Amino acid sequence: MSHSTPDTTPCVTTIAGTGSYVPERILSNADLAKIVDTSDEWIVSRTGIRERRIAAAGETTSDMCTKAARLAIESAGITAAEIDLIIVGTVTPDSLFPSTACYVQQNLGASNAVAFDVSAACAGFLFAMQIARHFINGGNRSTALIIGADKLSVLIDWTDRNTCVLFGDGAGAAILRRRTPDDEATASGLLSSVLASDGNLTGILHAPGIGSAQTLPPNPAVIPEPIIHMMGKEVFKAAVKNTCEACETAISRAGLPAADLDLIIPHQANVRIVDAIRERLGLPPEKAFLNLQKYGNTSGAAIAIALDEASRSGRLKKGDNVLLVAFGAGFAWAASVIRW
Ligand SMILES: CC(C)(COP(=O)(O)OP(=O)(O)OC[C@H]1O[C@@H](n2cnc3c(N)ncnc32)[C@H](O)[C@@H]1OP(=O)(O)O)[C@@H](O)C(=O)NCCC(=O)NCCS
Repeated sequence: MSHSTPDTTPCVTTIAGTGSYVPERILSNADLAKIVDTSDEWIVSRTGIRERRIAAAGETTSDMCTKAARLAIESAGITAAEIDLIIVGTVTPDSLFPSTACYVQQNLGASNAVAFDVSAACAGFLFAMQIARHFINGGNRSTALIIGADKLSVLIDWTDRNTCVLFGDGAGAAILRRRTPDDEATASGLLSSVLASDGNLTGILHAPGIGSAQTLPPNPAVIPEPIIHMMGKEVFKAAVKNTCEACETAISRAGLPAADLDLIIPHQANVRIVDAIRERLGLPPEKAFLNLQKYGNTSGAAIAIALDEASRSGRLKKGDNVLLVAFGAGFAWAASVIRW
């Protein structure tokens, strides 16, 4: 596809504010080495991760979402009553139903919103972003709260060194709104997007245990443990192949050469995957935003937390061209170019 092929969706929607939250408790690589046969050296060299945050026992996904959302609302300078759409991207809802988004709606008192969850694992925040973008572009809604949040620590098998070193808990949020004349003057907005999934790859990363495929055990009081199953190398390959293609399409649809990107905010799963994507696009290391060393892979929250940190730290500047790219279980992946 040529660089001049534009996204057919008009640029009507922009990001008005962001917020994030991570739990207080830090679990370092050295802590993990006390419970499984691993080492700080192995984890850092294979993934880049040094520590992650673990939610407290009673701390739910909606609690984390609410904290991140309050900061996003404050940074956008709006009230909860102005929000007319709430979408939470999560695979660790508080309960099977109602949606986590409805709990967040209740916590915020956002009584004018319609609220629902989207299940796209680590791509959940970008899926939520594009769904909200279409609602706003279509004129149906004007102010959306989108959240990516997960408490994967409840799904982890803490005896499995292949998976337990990778993940952490957290939440990130953004307010999307119809562009104002000021936004139009700075040309900020969501420029392009690619959403994709491949159901043939459901088996490479999944968490069976609770759901309609599960038959109740003889004693219904004993609920089977949901646990993450992952084929690491297959996930790695699917991530690199699919996201590289999606990035190229998103950049092309935005009508930009890759060299015009100021920053990539990638899913924070593994620094080697980030390097592969960045190198394919011909971009230097300083153009990739990384915080996985502090938080590990926070699933749906990862890009949302990184976006908020990049914004608050001044790494993102008005007018910057930013590529967001995520992948995860499904297999599901997404890429989006925004102008900050
Ligand atoms: C999981 C991952 C880090 C493993 O890295 P890798 O280079 O592929 O490592 P391998 O699977 O080849 O494992 C090499 C060895 O390290 C061992 N190993 C695995 N985890 C380990 C750990 N935490 N500590 C020490 N050794 C470990 C393996 O058992 C294997 O040992 P063996 O050779 O004796 O069998 C990597 O495949 C990956 O990041 N995949 C993508 C995962 C991901 O992003 N998931 C989330 C998607 S949203």
